[in-house]
Amino acid sequence: MRLLDQDFELFLTQAEIESAIAAMARQLAEDYRGTCPLFVGVLNGCFRFAAELFKYYDAPCEVSFVKMASYQGLTSTGIVETLLDVSESVEGRDVVILEDIVDSGHTLQHLVTHFSDKNIRSFKIATLFYKPASYDKEYEIAYKGIDLPSEFVVGYGLDYNEKGRELNNLYILKNT
Ligand code: IMP
Ligand code: MG
Repeated sequence: MRLLDQDFELFLTQAEIESAIAAMARQLAEDYRGTCPLFVGVLNGCFRFAAELFKYYDAPCEVSFVKMASYQGLTSTGIVETLLDVSESVEGRDVVILEDIVDSGHTLQHLVTHFSDKNIRSFKIATLFYKPASYDKEYEIAYKGIDLPSEFVVGYGLDYNEKGRELNNLYILKNT
């Protein structure tokens, strides 16, 4: 499978991804029973994950989105800026962040800082994909869908230069 100038090969099928999402949704529903959590999806990558999650999360909740931008400068760590913020008040809420993937954890770090000092009742991260060998932050990730090797992937919401988000399966960069 080719996207722009790179070749990718199938890594995970839609069925494999979606069974991991269903399991996570059931776990979340159990853990948040009796509360009304505010789920905050991180755009653009989370759109597919979030839509699938709520097929199985059948309890009271609210859903909102944020959008971050990272700029890759001369250093390896990009600066992350908030482009779209949640319009709801987060004070006293149980917040669950929905991320497509946690790689270095740089974006996650920014989210944690962004939501701190807002008098939130509880704050947890749920990520569909996770690269354990790349993650070098202390922050504990409460919900992890599928562990991945530290290689570049596309599909199921994730992009390569904005291409490939619509793909139903997950593809990994082919080593040539
Ligand atoms: P971070 O390194 O954990 O800050 O990852 C930041 C962002 O980079 C993620 O939210 C994704 O949007 C993107 N990203 C990380 N790894 C991949 C990948 O393998 N494919 C596509 N996007 C990725
Ligand atoms: Mg992302």
